[in-house]
Amino acid sequence: MNDDFYEEILLRSEAIQARVAEMGAQISADYAGKNPLAVGILRGAVVFMADLVRHISVPIELDFMAVSSYGKATKTSGVVRILKDLDEDIKGRDVLVVEDVLDTGLTLDYLMTYLSAREPASLEVCVMLNKQLAGRQIETRVRYCGFEIPDKFVVGYGLDFGQHYRNLPYVCTLKPEVYGGAK
Ligand code: IMP
Ligand code: MG
Repeated sequence: MNDDFYEEILLRSEAIQARVAEMGAQISADYAGKNPLAVGILRGAVVFMADLVRHISVPIELDFMAVSSYGKATKTSGVVRILKDLDEDIKGRDVLVVEDVLDTGLTLDYLMTYLSAREPASLEVCVMLNKQLAGRQIETRVRYCGFEIPDKFVVGYGLDFGQHYRNLPYVCTLKPEVYGGAK
């Protein structure tokens, strides 16, 4: 891939890796003696989750959900649909939801309501990126956050634009001509 698609690299690979290691250590300490279930939100959280769990030293299980909130646009539709549900029963489990980015908060808010109804012993959220959003529609409680980033559309480290760029080891903004200039 040539590199004339990005506008600015916001988070370099080294910084991401260092922070993910810290988060893993924190989670390991907080869940000492427990057997948490990490629930990754497909597809964006896969890269982050894969790195994160390798820094977690307590026995942790993995499950995944797929939801759709965006379609192909860069703005949220406000509609959350479950495309793939959990495989595990979470009743009585210590559940840690792993998300790529908190933008409007609609997706996580919906998921928290949905998951709490299944009576987990505990339910916490771990996000890689938290956008500094003036107009955040919903305040979702986030226990672990990798980085605060400006309210810009970003790709890389799991995040996509039209399914592209998920494999970049860094997080960057795109040149306006690449994505058509929408926020
Ligand atoms: P929210 O419901 O608005 O918080 O949006 C959360 C979901 O939207 C994330 O899980 C991402 O899939 C997607 N999303 C939000 N912001 C970005 C971005 O800057 N780049 C790529 N995907 C994003
Ligand atoms: Mg996503």
